[in-house]
Amino acid sequence: MARNVLILYYSQFGNTAKLATSIHRETGADILRLRVPDDYFPDDMEETDKIFKRDNKLGQLPPIVTKLPNIQYYDTILIGGPVWDGKVASPVISLLKMIVNYQGKVAPFSIGWSDTGNYQADFIAHAGKLNVVSGYHVLTHATPKFSSASLASWLRKL
Ligand SMILES: Cc1cc2nc3c(=O)[nH]c(=O)nc-3n(C[C@H](O)[C@H](O)[C@H](O)COP(=O)(O)O)c2cc1C
Repeated sequence: MARNVLILYYSQFGNTAKLATSIHRETGADILRLRVPDDYFPDDMEETDKIFKRDNKLGQLPPIVTKLPNIQYYDTILIGGPVWDGKVASPVISLLKMIVNYQGKVAPFSIGWSDTGNYQADFIAHAGKLNVVSGYHVLTHATPKFSSASLASWLRKL
């Protein structure tokens, strides 16, 4: 795997956080959790979905309130987030807009409930000129499920 690696992730209910922590443990990479304003998304999936759909309709994205480190220092960024409506969760899209000039490799990882949908394709669609490689996409209530072996295999290819 590449030498200087940064893990950036958004997690509303803790699943992506858990996955990001596993990746951190495996890689020793720097890690940072992205936050949106506390009151942006309700503490409920269905209500969050309403905000997500409203934002999509209005073409707006939640602001990221986390200060990013100097990303050019890293040769790879692993970007994690939950699957929302078969797509990339909007805080991750906000991040992609913040790093448009990043020159290194970008590798997505995601965790959904039962359907990954078009996560990888949607991520690429929002990534502009970023150099996006194949991601690690798992589900909590269907396959593919997380396993140390599949994670290690993905990390080896980066
Ligand atoms: C707005 C919204 C939409 C979602 N859409 C999907 C989906 O299309 N497919 C899926 O498998 N899970 C979906 N989920 C479930 C989350 O992807 C899943 O619970 C994920 O593990 C949550 O990650 P987190 O704990 O890091 O927030 C959705 C959740 C929310 C809040």
